[in-house]
Amino acid sequence: KYVTAIILAAGQGKRMNMPVAKQFIMLDGKPIIYYSVKAFEESCVDDIILICGQGQVDYCKENIIKAYGFKKVRHIIEGGKERYDSVYNGLLAIKNTDYVLIHDGARPFISVDLINEVIKTVYEDKACIVAAPVKDTIKMVDKGGWVKDTPDRKLLWAAQTPQAFEYGLIKKAYEDLFNSEELLRENITDDAMVFNMFINMPVKVVRGDYYNIKITTPEDLIFAKGILEGKTR
Ligand code: CTP
Ligand code: MG
Repeated sequence: KYVTAIILAAGQGKRMNMPVAKQFIMLDGKPIIYYSVKAFEESCVDDIILICGQGQVDYCKENIIKAYGFKKVRHIIEGGKERYDSVYNGLLAIKNTDYVLIHDGARPFISVDLINEVIKTVYEDKACIVAAPVKDTIKMVDKGGWVKDTPDRKLLWAAQTPQAFEYGLIKKAYEDLFNSEELLRENITDDAMVFNMFINMPVKVVRGDYYNIKITTPEDLIFAKGILEGKTR
């Protein structure tokens, strides 16, 4: 069975509020995206498609792929405006594969073991995501800033990536999404949501870990330094 990873690095990192997109911020001398690609390079995936921003293909080829000698990155292509546009571009660029793993390039601490567990799980269950039980109590809050409800924490998991699917199924889900009215796309934040909208099949959860953070706001860089330090000790 052939397994392809799509690694997303086409976002602008608006919440990070830095002059350079967050995936290129240096962590211990290497860009954040290096760590994500490295983990997939060392995993059981067969090849990798890197999705980068408009006009960044050559930059990534030279400064990420060539500079660090990655061998599994077969294509580097441009993403789109929203995350789901970037994912769709990646899915359309794949010629032939059995399974796809979709990963946020902004999650540099994904472990090789977890990637391989996701691969095993998708073989068996056809659709799965990495997620971790939430530690905080989560409140539903209305637009006016009042607490509306408290969902049972035991049932709440924070979705992470990678998210993995049988290729034909996730491609169909995304095709259906882009053939639907634009309104449906408004609140999409992950791939399992798209899968659930159009494919009537269950999505399995692979228990993740709390290191697999998404670098999103400036304080995440402080946590990231700590994680790197803790890992190399
Ligand atoms: N992403 C992408 N294409 C987009 C938007 C996001 O490839 N049009 C990628 C990001 O590069 C990141 C992942 O999707 O690896 C998760 O998105 P997010 O954390 O929201 O990153 P950004 O969109 O870059 O950040 P922000 O939302 O703060 O602008
Ligand atoms: Mg975003």
